[in-house]
Amino acid sequence: MIQFNNLNQEIPYLLFKSKYDEALNLGQKGIEAISVSTYESKTNEVDSRYVNLKFITNDEFIFFSNYDSPKASSFISHDQIAVLVYWPSINVQIRIKAKIKKTIKEYNKNYFFHRSEEKNALAISSNQSKQIDTYSQVKENYDKSFKNNDLKKCPEYWGGYSFVPYYFEFWEGHESRINKREAFNMTDGVWRRLFLQP
Ligand SMILES: Cc1cc2nc3c(=O)[nH]c(=O)nc-3n(C[C@H](O)[C@H](O)[C@H](O)COP(=O)(O)O)c2cc1C
Repeated sequence: MIQFNNLNQEIPYLLFKSKYDEALNLGQKGIEAISVSTYESKTNEVDSRYVNLKFITNDEFIFFSNYDSPKASSFISHDQIAVLVYWPSINVQIRIKAKIKKTIKEYNKNYFFHRSEEKNALAISSNQSKQIDTYSQVKENYDKSFKNNDLKKCPEYWGGYSFVPYYFEFWEGHESRINKREAFNMTDGVWRRLFLQP
């Protein structure tokens, strides 16, 4: 589930929320999963991964991750991302382009404090995406962290990311194949609406 707080009242945000509600009402599983694509200048590669979108607060989309992970490094090298959502229950794809930045420490600390100890033990124990010799070592590191760490204290290497879209495209599949593509582009602080051919 995504939590909406004080949602921005401009059309693309309202459309996002109304599609979300439709999909949720039809029992869409994994509704909070979004694909985030990045560019890493060190390797000249693009990459994608899913994350769970936790909040949309006004115009900011927020998820949480490890600040030492490959994605974190890519956000530094290139702060522009592409985000993708597909909700099969309503046959809607949403494409977003945005600039991304870290959330502030106080926000991370507060969010971490209220999460489950199990989730926190894993966040503390994992050097996200670093190689490890065996899978059982992951479990050992987790168990150690669960026993020995303060599970309410947010580590420096963990926290939120917030992105503010400057482009949305809503793609709606229709049986006739006459699919609807409605896009919104932010120019000079104003959302410009356009339709694209399928
Ligand atoms: C549905 C789904 C949700 C996920 N949510 C998160 C998340 O919220 N934060 C996160 O760090 N990784 C999440 N992951 C794991 C990431 O996809 C990825 O494996 C991890 O963040 C390492 O990515 P990186 O090496 O590109 O930094 C999720 C994976 C899936 C399949």
